[in-house]
Amino acid sequence: MSKISDYFGLQAEDFGEDFVWGVSTAAYQIEGAHDIHDKGPSIWDDFTSKKGNTYQNHHGNDACEFYHKFQEDILLMRKMNIDHFRFSLSWSRILPNGTGTVSIQGIQFYNDVINFCLECGITPWVTLYHWDLPLALEEKGGWTNRDILDWFQEYVTICANSFGDRVKNWMVLNEPMVFTGAGYFLGVHAPGKKGLKNFLPSVHYAVLCQAAGGRILRKLVANANIGTTFSCSQIAPYRKNRRDQRAAERADALLNRLFIEPSLGMGYPWDTVPVLKRIQSYILPGDTENSVFDFDFVGIQNYTREKVKHSYFVPYIRAKIVKASKRKVRTTLMDWEVYPPSIFKMIKRFNGYEGVKKVIITENGAAFADEIYKGGVHDEERLSYLQAYLKQVYKAQEEGLKVDGYFVWTFTDNFEWAEGYYPRFGLVYIDFKNQERIIKSSGKWFSEFLASLKIHL
Ligand code: NOJ
Repeated sequence: MSKISDYFGLQAEDFGEDFVWGVSTAAYQIEGAHDIHDKGPSIWDDFTSKKGNTYQNHHGNDACEFYHKFQEDILLMRKMNIDHFRFSLSWSRILPNGTGTVSIQGIQFYNDVINFCLECGITPWVTLYHWDLPLALEEKGGWTNRDILDWFQEYVTICANSFGDRVKNWMVLNEPMVFTGAGYFLGVHAPGKKGLKNFLPSVHYAVLCQAAGGRILRKLVANANIGTTFSCSQIAPYRKNRRDQRAAERADALLNRLFIEPSLGMGYPWDTVPVLKRIQSYILPGDTENSVFDFDFVGIQNYTREKVKHSYFVPYIRAKIVKASKRKVRTTLMDWEVYPPSIFKMIKRFNGYEGVKKVIITENGAAFADEIYKGGVHDEERLSYLQAYLKQVYKAQEEGLKVDGYFVWTFTDNFEWAEGYYPRFGLVYIDFKNQERIIKSSGKWFSEFLASLKIHL
């Protein structure tokens, strides 16, 4: 049988025995069962219940019904040779009010998922916070309230004690720049808050929680592999002039440096973006030291690159992203440029930080308008996207850079936040009318690609 992967020229085993291959997901995007048993509402349940916040008012009430279908999905992973599964815990499923009473059923659900993964020989990678804050906490200010430090530590302690005997790979936060930027500055994600007065405290408290979460896991989980994840994109000036160059540096500081640098003891990048100095009013004695944590790995999540130009009209940052659709380049359905060298640049960039011990690609993938045709989903564009990005990951390895794993975003099509179900990112197609799963061409290729790892077993 001729295999698609033969034409690609690389096999999973070429990346080395210890390289981790997996798929990534997040609770709100897949689970559904939004109000089952005593689960409390999250900010995303609330945000999506209000008209106009998401594409055609889509919501995650049912999503992929992973809550009910997790066995089917994990078995499908097994069948596709996927050995590592990254998923997140829904805080309000575990603590319906964010703090206080723990839901027995919530803990049971994640125990079932974890145990089933282990039975199937799949290693669980758990993200503690992937954007679905309990609504009860948002009503007290959410990420803008310094009390989040206590709330978060209580939650992490419960998760570490409940699952740490079996889960060894942990990520504290998912893309803090996105949940603070989109959720507390632009207002386009839950909880829909805007402005610097919301953004700056949420940044600082997320930085503190990032490190505090790491410390709790270190204390409570034996042999833990602890990381956290960052969104990142190569940023290039739109035109070759000094003003665009400066604008690109400011955008880069905000989008790529804001959360990693304080965790490495380098502080906030306010030399490049002066408005960040206003964070100082939230910094209490001891905070700078407490922002630091010695992560075992950093998870980097790269999809595209951005081109940035100077703009007087954008307050504070005076920089503007020039949309990919205006640049006549190949794009995905998210209007993100397909630009594989960006992932190489980002691996290199994170390797450049002295304190970074390991780099894992915890997300990479692409959305296209997939359709069922003659019983199959022939997503050639995703397939070539993944191959092109993987070639860059391989190049990084060949050049001696640290890169220790790669997780595809995502396993099945799912709820893409403000864009609803319109962009499909999965290796597996979901027909949301009947929840049928169909492995796409990219999924078939990925499982063949991973098969080289099994031959030697
Ligand atoms: C970033 C987020 O972590 C994930 O939730 C999202 O669906 C993907 N990247 C694609 O936008």
